[in-house]
Amino acid sequence: MANSGHIVVDFGGAGEDARRELLPAVTPPPVPYVLSFTDLSYTVRKRQDGLRGCLPSRASNRLASTDALPNNMKRLLDGVSGEARDGEMFAVMGASGSGKSTLVDALAGRVARGSLGGAVTLNGEPLQGRRLRAISAYVMQDDLLYPMLTVRETLLFAAEFRLSRVLSPAAKRDRVDRLIDQLGLANAADTVIGDEGHRGVSGGERRRVSIGTDIIHDPILLFLDEPTSGLDSASAFMVVQVLRTIARSGSVVVMTIHQPSSRILGILGRLLLLSRGRTVYAGTPAGLKPFFSEYGTPIPDNENPAEFALDTIRELEGSKPDGSKPLAVFNAGWQATQKLITDGSKPPPSPLTLEMAIAESVARGKLVAGSGTGTAATSVPTYANPLAVEVWTLIKRAFTNTRRMPELFGLRLGTIMVTGVILATIFLRLDDTPKGVQERLGFFAMGMSTMFYVCADALPVFVQERHIYLRETAHNAYRRISYVLANAVVSFPPLVVLALAFAATTFFAVGLSGGASSFLFFSLIILASLWAGSGFVTFLSAVVPHVMLGYTVVVAILAYFLLFSGFFINRDRIPDYWIWFHYMSLVKYPYQAVLQNEFSDASRCFARGVEMFDGTPVGGMPEAIKMKVLQAIGETLGANMTASTCVVTGADVLKQQAVTDLGKWMCLLVTAAFGFFFRALFYVVLLVGSKNKRK
Ligand SMILES: Nc1ncnc2c1ncn2[C@@H]1O[C@H](COP(=O)(O)OP(=O)(O)OP(=O)(O)O)[C@@H](O)[C@H]1O
Ligand SMILES: [Mg+2]
Repeated sequence: MANSGHIVVDFGGAGEDARRELLPAVTPPPVPYVLSFTDLSYTVRKRQDGLRGCLPSRASNRLASTDALPNNMKRLLDGVSGEARDGEMFAVMGASGSGKSTLVDALAGRVARGSLGGAVTLNGEPLQGRRLRAISAYVMQDDLLYPMLTVRETLLFAAEFRLSRVLSPAAKRDRVDRLIDQLGLANAADTVIGDEGHRGVSGGERRRVSIGTDIIHDPILLFLDEPTSGLDSASAFMVVQVLRTIARSGSVVVMTIHQPSSRILGILGRLLLLSRGRTVYAGTPAGLKPFFSEYGTPIPDNENPAEFALDTIRELEGSKPDGSKPLAVFNAGWQATQKLITDGSKPPPSPLTLEMAIAESVARGKLVAGSGTGTAATSVPTYANPLAVEVWTLIKRAFTNTRRMPELFGLRLGTIMVTGVILATIFLRLDDTPKGVQERLGFFAMGMSTMFYVCADALPVFVQERHIYLRETAHNAYRRISYVLANAVVSFPPLVVLALAFAATTFFAVGLSGGASSFLFFSLIILASLWAGSGFVTFLSAVVPHVMLGYTVVVAILAYFLLFSGFFINRDRIPDYWIWFHYMSLVKYPYQAVLQNEFSDASRCFARGVEMFDGTPVGGMPEAIKMKVLQAIGETLGANMTASTCVVTGADVLKQQAVTDLGKWMCLLVTAAFGFFFRALFYVVLLVGSKNKRK
């Protein structure tokens, strides 16, 4: 605490306690914010047979106010209005499926604008994408965290992404320490988050860490979907207490909540009860009792009002033909009378425009990311850090996380080594005969395609990480390009190890030719293949929705690549209408490169004398006959052919295999270029897809 005064004055992000403690006399109460929404309506088209997904529909107020709705439409929100203020918590309640998440999504700007009817304003001004993103945070229901980072590390990385670079590392650490205190995580600060395979923090702690990562920059608007679900009542209460502290520091907190305990209900500021998308109650928790008394179902004294209200609504939904509609109608009347009573006591509207209000909040330490970048309210920058810092931070995080899960890399190394050892022992010491040539071709085709199969291991990692990525970029924690770059940089070093491991196990055992320079090229082409393969899988992970589908696609496509690589059918024998696929085949280039690497030595001989008959009808005849045939051939050609005359050189093999269209270095280049190409595609997919919004 000793240095908190300094920090408050400097950048003000030191948290609510410090502000209250240090500046009580000089600081006026927090800048008032009112998030109001009127007549929100949202209608979707129901899923129909044969049609994938649900198409968005333009919901309008006119549509919402009439009851007639086409059969294939479903109304998720029906004229919902309300107001959430800073300093108090706004809770949306209702049975499962009543539209709670939908409402919070709509308020948080996570519903595409065309589909939503009604208006959402902050201090009277409509909220738009970029500004909304900069000042708000959305805490999702599931905790998406890196399992092998500790609580403190997780929050520190969040701080590095979200807090401005003008803050010193010490200041960021300080903000994290405060947040850890605020979230009640001091005891778990150095424990890893954990996952199914590793023991980590408890569920309640995990929840709070997850909230912490989203509120690190002290947002003005905070949306949470069921922050207490799955927690015991003590943990749930603790989470809600934390949220109240945040609200009191001048934020608008909107959340959905399932069955709050009486204790939690007591500290909620305002409730909105939904039933099938309609408001059935809006007001304070204390107002529940008079409301239900007046409606004719008084709440018994010993009962939790929230539970009672939800049960009553559920009964109404089940019993009456028009469900809870009477209650919704009754509520509308009740609201009107309440309005008459409270209108006089309403605080006057804020004299500040939204822009000024945000600037004022920033000056007082809210939105830590925005501090230090000038005085204009537009100074809330889209990204807190420059590109290089983002990339570096992402690399550090990925590295920390993977370093603590060595088994993942171990698995990949194991896979490639097992394949390497099997290949090395099957194709042990290949000789320079026609059979040896065939076996070499088999070894190369198998080896090169293995490089691509090995990369599929990475698929689940990327698919899983995608959710974290989506969440982080949804609130501009970093640029998409940073993620792509960091991802490429982090994935590279393990590939070097894998490539060397495979090359070392097989090159000498199989007896490939060319010595050190050839070995080096062999390693390089394997590395390039792994690079291209991992790029391909990364790209795929962004396109496919599920891991299983990803595997299916990888296996199928790689099989085609191998089929068209030139191993099963030579290039000059592939029909013209398929030749394009041959050039698209990722396996073609490394396969061709290793063949050239192996067979480029013109002085090496792969069939001498009668060996040329191996595999032909003459091959099975006695040696003397073969010699005679050989001599006859020699006479026809006008050359002296003996048992030691070389009839097939390396160059001949290359010609036979039709792998002479590109040189080996060109093949290496193309393979490596594929890796870059797929990573560029990956970036494009990230840019156009994953808007993280409902239609
Ligand atoms: N695309 C859609 N097409 C049809 N119905 C939908 C669609 N999306 C959501 N719904 C329905 O809208 C209703 C409201 O969903 P929402 O997720 O808001 O419920 P919720 O109140 O958050 O429920 P829970 O407490 O279970 O999280 C549900 O009945 C759901 O089935
Ligand atoms: Mg929900």
